[in-house]
Amino acid sequence: MQPTNFDLFADHETEQQPRAEQIGEQSWVLRGFALPVVEQLLPTLDTIIGAAPLRHMMTPGGFSMSVGTSSCGTLGWITDRSGYRYSTVDPLTGEPWPAMPQVLSELAREAAQRAGFADFHPDSCLINQYIPGAKMSLHQDKDEHAYTAPIVSLSLGLPAMFLFGGFARSDKSQRIPLLHGDMVIWGGADRLRFHGVLPIKPGRHPQLGERRVNLTFRVAGCL
Ligand code: SIN
Ligand code: FE2
Repeated sequence: MQPTNFDLFADHETEQQPRAEQIGEQSWVLRGFALPVVEQLLPTLDTIIGAAPLRHMMTPGGFSMSVGTSSCGTLGWITDRSGYRYSTVDPLTGEPWPAMPQVLSELAREAAQRAGFADFHPDSCLINQYIPGAKMSLHQDKDEHAYTAPIVSLSLGLPAMFLFGGFARSDKSQRIPLLHGDMVIWGGADRLRFHGVLPIKPGRHPQLGERRVNLTFRVAGCL
């Protein structure tokens, strides 16, 4: 696969330092960054989804989302007819969201660090499961209390075509293929860029099967 842009870290690359592709002033794709911990991470995902099942949430406009959603961490992102927001409680179970496993928070912290954002301590991890055909329309992540921390995304399973746009919905988007283990980080000047995912193509991933799972780490509450 061709890098989408130049690689500032090329001089420092070793086998332990996966390829970094710059996709914006403060935005990076870290190819395969999660692969060293993926075996450790997948069982924790099953545990979370066991306690806080994936569900198709309703948008404020009354549409059922094509992705199945859950969360871990102190805050979970939710949507229903009354709007988009964060909640300390899973509305499906009435219980707090499962705790964020250290393997996940640590991975997110290291990815953020590699992209130039020190001391990233996410309090929220949104889990979106895409079955073939599911998509995510262009949107900005702006339900968080502050925009000082970056967004850190981890892709697992089937490939996706990630759309990375500008600051207006109508701005042209870059198309960035994301594979199992890739991470994307955008923050600072790029924090409010529109982004989305084209419909997932049918396929079967050796570990995840017929699905893609995306984890989005955020600082949602007060810093
Ligand atoms: C999101 O923006 O919430 C999801 C992005 C992705 O699935 O890659
Ligand atoms: Fe998003």
